[in-house]
Amino acid sequence: MKVLGIMGSPRIGSNTDLLLDEALKGAEHQGAEVEKIIVDKLNISPCREYYGCLKDGNCVIKDDMDDIYPKLLAADVVIVASPMFFYGLSSQLKALIDRCQALWARRYVLKQEPPGSMRKGAFIAVGATRGKKLFDGATLVVKYFFQAVGVEYVDELLVRGVDKRGEIKEQPGVLAEAFKIGKHLAGEGSSPT
Ligand SMILES: Cc1cc2nc3c(=O)[nH]c(=O)nc-3n(C[C@H](O)[C@H](O)[C@H](O)COP(=O)(O)O)c2cc1C
Repeated sequence: MKVLGIMGSPRIGSNTDLLLDEALKGAEHQGAEVEKIIVDKLNISPCREYYGCLKDGNCVIKDDMDDIYPKLLAADVVIVASPMFFYGLSSQLKALIDRCQALWARRYVLKQEPPGSMRKGAFIAVGATRGKKLFDGATLVVKYFFQAVGVEYVDELLVRGVDKRGEIKEQPGVLAEAFKIGKHLAGEGSSPT
């Protein structure tokens, strides 16, 4: 069981990262092999709409995405984590997702089905404000991303009212929720919450 965590915050060791770490610890607890990608440390160009991917499912831009595509396809579980930036994902993470147009092309244009039908995914997000619609846009993006890469959206942890660096540590209950999500994803499937 391979679990891939995609950490979308530029603040390493802060709220998003801490929650993702807990989820990955939960997966490890179940015996899963876990890997965390820190998107901000990678060189990922935005999509340039060259559309080379429509021909053979491969992006013509050569950068760190070359390593991400195989990792994404090999993972049994994908956990995406992001802070809310202007009601959306961080732009670093959005660039990675947009570059998965290549995988979208494999699936929907070239009719190559993604590997495995049991692949599962979850979304972890943190925002400073408390509005009802805070996560609506980002959730839609992640659901569509998962669909493009052949992952079922089975769980989410959406945390409001967290702003300062590492402030999530004051909420051990939420960190425990994240652990539980990782544990369930790597174990019997989706969390009962
Ligand atoms: C550029 C930027 C945009 C933000 N936009 C929002 C927003 O639209 N809604 C919100 O609730 N918080 C917003 N925030 C606050 C962050 O989501 C919040 O500080 C979060 O805890 C950061 O998570 P991190 O520490 O893991 O990076 C924004 C922060 C930044 C830097």
